[in-house]
Amino acid sequence: MSDRKQFRAIKGTRDILPPDSALWNWFEHTAREVFESYNFGEIRLPIFEETTLFARSIGEETDVVAKEMYTFQDRGTIQVGYPQTVEEVISSDEAVRAAWELKRLPQTPENELRVNLMHHACRSIAEEGAPALLRFVAELHALDLGDSITLRPEATASVCRAYIEHNMQALPANQKLYYIGPMFRRERPQKGRYRQFYQIGAEVLGQSDAPAIDAEVLEMLLVFFNRVGLTRTTLYVNSIGDKNCRPQYVELLREELRKVKDKLKEDSQRRIETNPLRVLDSKIPDEQPIIEKLPRISDHLCDDCRAHFAKLKEELNLRGIEYRENWRLVRGLDYYTRTTFEVTAEGLGSQNAVCGGGRYDGLVELLGGPPTKGIGFAIGTDRSILSIEEGGNAPRIGGLAAYIAWMGQASYPTAVNIAGKLRAAGLSVELPPEEMKFKKSLGLADKLGARYALIIGEDEVASRTFTLKRLADGDQKKLAEGELLEYLESERRR
Ligand code: HAM
Repeated sequence: MSDRKQFRAIKGTRDILPPDSALWNWFEHTAREVFESYNFGEIRLPIFEETTLFARSIGEETDVVAKEMYTFQDRGTIQVGYPQTVEEVISSDEAVRAAWELKRLPQTPENELRVNLMHHACRSIAEEGAPALLRFVAELHALDLGDSITLRPEATASVCRAYIEHNMQALPANQKLYYIGPMFRRERPQKGRYRQFYQIGAEVLGQSDAPAIDAEVLEMLLVFFNRVGLTRTTLYVNSIGDKNCRPQYVELLREELRKVKDKLKEDSQRRIETNPLRVLDSKIPDEQPIIEKLPRISDHLCDDCRAHFAKLKEELNLRGIEYRENWRLVRGLDYYTRTTFEVTAEGLGSQNAVCGGGRYDGLVELLGGPPTKGIGFAIGTDRSILSIEEGGNAPRIGGLAAYIAWMGQASYPTAVNIAGKLRAAGLSVELPPEEMKFKKSLGLADKLGARYALIIGEDEVASRTFTLKRLADGDQKKLAEGELLEYLESERRR
């Protein structure tokens, strides 16, 4: 009996296997095509960032930051690359330079400690040489001063960080960026909800907050959904005001909520003080009649926000985009201002949001950058693909074009040669590595779902032809090499 542990993917994570992975690739590829047709360029971001980046952007009180982040302490030595050997910092000059570089780290108590240690070490190294350096390195190791790192729960914060870091405000036009990749949230796994899930996101950052930008972003999103057959969807839009009008509304909401506090459940009661807007998100049936009577943000927008929202709706109409207004759409992340939106899809049960987004003017500034306007969205790939599959709209992608059934050692070189040519022409080809009887290889071709079997036996080698058998109906023809390539290529393009 084996005592070896059976490893399984961690709860909330999963493997995407072929042929599903082909569907995923097609979905992502289509997003690239559509987004690039709107002049968006791809940004590839790190999977982990400093914890404070997310805490500050998303908000300390949000569920994502308070409960769901995968956060860990990195090991100091790896993070900032302290000298590990005497050779690495052989002279005190180099040590001073390293200390100077350390000072450029964010001003946290840990970093201050590092710099002090480094200064101290530089002095001792200058006086004592190598033994002091070794002592210093050992001291640093013992402290294990790591930075707090978080696996990204979303990517808008990272895009803003990159915008600032690369001085993108100096570029001539709005920055239109998209990203594709995994995100991590420690949520309770269920259908359509994972701990490692995938997003395709797009962000526009720059000086303008013209409602036409919001509308174009939504148009692009819906063009994409249409292209991939995600059609049983509803777009909800709202405006949650800005820093001029939202604080008053939030206060009013808080006052009204305090009056009905006893009728609310624990989560909502707590949110009255921490984040009253989130009460509007509640799905608890008993709370619904109470929430319906609360004051609505649409009645409390300032003139600028009201005008912005009205213009956005005009722009959506101009583009023939259908939408529904939902005054309760406040979203779960703190950085939003004005426009918020969500798309829900059928066939998903309770986790039916396939995309969420909105405006976040001010986020770049909050992270220490210049005043900047921003808007964007993120599509949940896992849920979108589930919905496409449940709607029966999933296309049959790729698949095996030809299985080469060869028999007899004399046929083998021809088989290798033609396999190379067909692959070079862009076809998916399976070449069995060992000789098999025709009956067996044709059976296997069928099981693998090949569209054609290419039969190469002694007859074919002698007559310099190939027998091509269409497996769906058994139709068979003999073709010379040129004819075969032409025929299969034209089939591929169909
Ligand atoms: P979000 O609403 O938190 O927004 O996530 C966007 C989408 O990601 C959701 O609508 C959903 O489809 C998917 N999603 C979220 N959590 C999970 C999960 N645990 N499992 C599966 N899918 C999930 C954001 O992330 C913002 N950064 C969007 C944004 C971009 N706003 C402005 N720019």
